[in-house]
Amino acid sequence: MVTINENYLKLKSSYLFSEVAKRVESFRTAHPDRDIIRLGIGDATRALPAVCVEAFHKATDEMANDATFHGYGDEQGYGFLKEKVAQWDYRARGADISADEIFISDGAKCDTGNFQELFSAAAKIAIPDPVYPVYIDSNVMAGRTGAFENGRYPGIYYLDSTAKNSFVPELPSERVDVIYLCFPNNPTGATITKQQLGRWVDWAHANKALILYDAAYVAFIRDDSLPQSIYEISGARDVAVEFRSYSKTAGFTGTRCAYTVVPKTCVAYDSSGRPQSLHAMWNRRHTTKFNGVCYMVQRAAEAIYTPEGQRQIRNINDSYLDNARHIVSTLSELGYDCVGGKDSPYIWLDAGMDSWKFFDLLLDKAGVVCTPGAGFGRCGEGFVRISAFNRRDNVERALDRIRGALRRA
Ligand code: MLT
Repeated sequence: MVTINENYLKLKSSYLFSEVAKRVESFRTAHPDRDIIRLGIGDATRALPAVCVEAFHKATDEMANDATFHGYGDEQGYGFLKEKVAQWDYRARGADISADEIFISDGAKCDTGNFQELFSAAAKIAIPDPVYPVYIDSNVMAGRTGAFENGRYPGIYYLDSTAKNSFVPELPSERVDVIYLCFPNNPTGATITKQQLGRWVDWAHANKALILYDAAYVAFIRDDSLPQSIYEISGARDVAVEFRSYSKTAGFTGTRCAYTVVPKTCVAYDSSGRPQSLHAMWNRRHTTKFNGVCYMVQRAAEAIYTPEGQRQIRNINDSYLDNARHIVSTLSELGYDCVGGKDSPYIWLDAGMDSWKFFDLLLDKAGVVCTPGAGFGRCGEGFVRISAFNRRDNVERALDRIRGALRRA
């Protein structure tokens, strides 16, 4: 008899964004004439940057010719892309990262979900609340928690992010081994200063802990005083792994390319307390379980690393940020409190009611999809996340309808 990994039984029956999609689909079936505008999942809607499309075409032509054809590439990614990443995303900002510390992959979702495999089952994990659900669910699957109760999994140390701490969690008050952080934050849109991030790095050093830093939304930072990478903080190389993605940076949600930085100086400990290289372990995992990202996609990603490529991605992302500003100003006019939407494509709205009820209300009265905050954790109850990823005309229409639906007397 085949037996299952019973940890899966502890999970909520469906992944947050699948649950939202399911509810939207049943609404659509019940109201086939209603026009629905999606400000829920953070999915790019603008076309790929022209430089990427051009590089894609060129790389496809190479594959059409025996002389320039590419078979298997290195699982860790092609040198041409990793060199550009190290130079443009790190060394240009004073962060000491080399090309062989970069692992190209097909998504930050997979990498943030998979990285926990390197830690013991007993590792104590600290996770913000609210949070991108992948960090929690992947640790539940790995058996690091008890059964879900009162909106939480026993065994996880929750880092509450609330209006009281401006959605930047406080340092843990007890020992934890691994800490997930994400800035600009998904779902709240909050950002962290260098000084605040420095305190986390110091804490990790003092406690032999590791920070898993998700910087998937870095391309939306416009305030240059904010850190774009954790490696801009002195000492972070030894205690942090960083995840980035071209999904939001360059509209690659349907194209798939991302990377994880695992510095060679970054260690975790075996049961005898001896330091072990996380770089060597991740390399071992990556080469065993992953076959690399396709050549054309890596060439397309590489194309953003020119002044023209940077200009194009900035223009596209500015248009999402412009939507975000517009959403924030309309919601504020309507008397709602919200954070984010500045240096971030997400707006975290204090709904003033049960977040799934607000989701239903917005869908029913305005035909607009948002993401209920409760799906991101207990501290998300009473909030919803609104995504600025859509075309400007759709955002305008959505806001007109939201005005009609939510206008407070
Ligand atoms: C989100 O909406 O939170 C993201 O698009 C989900 C993801 O990146 O997997």
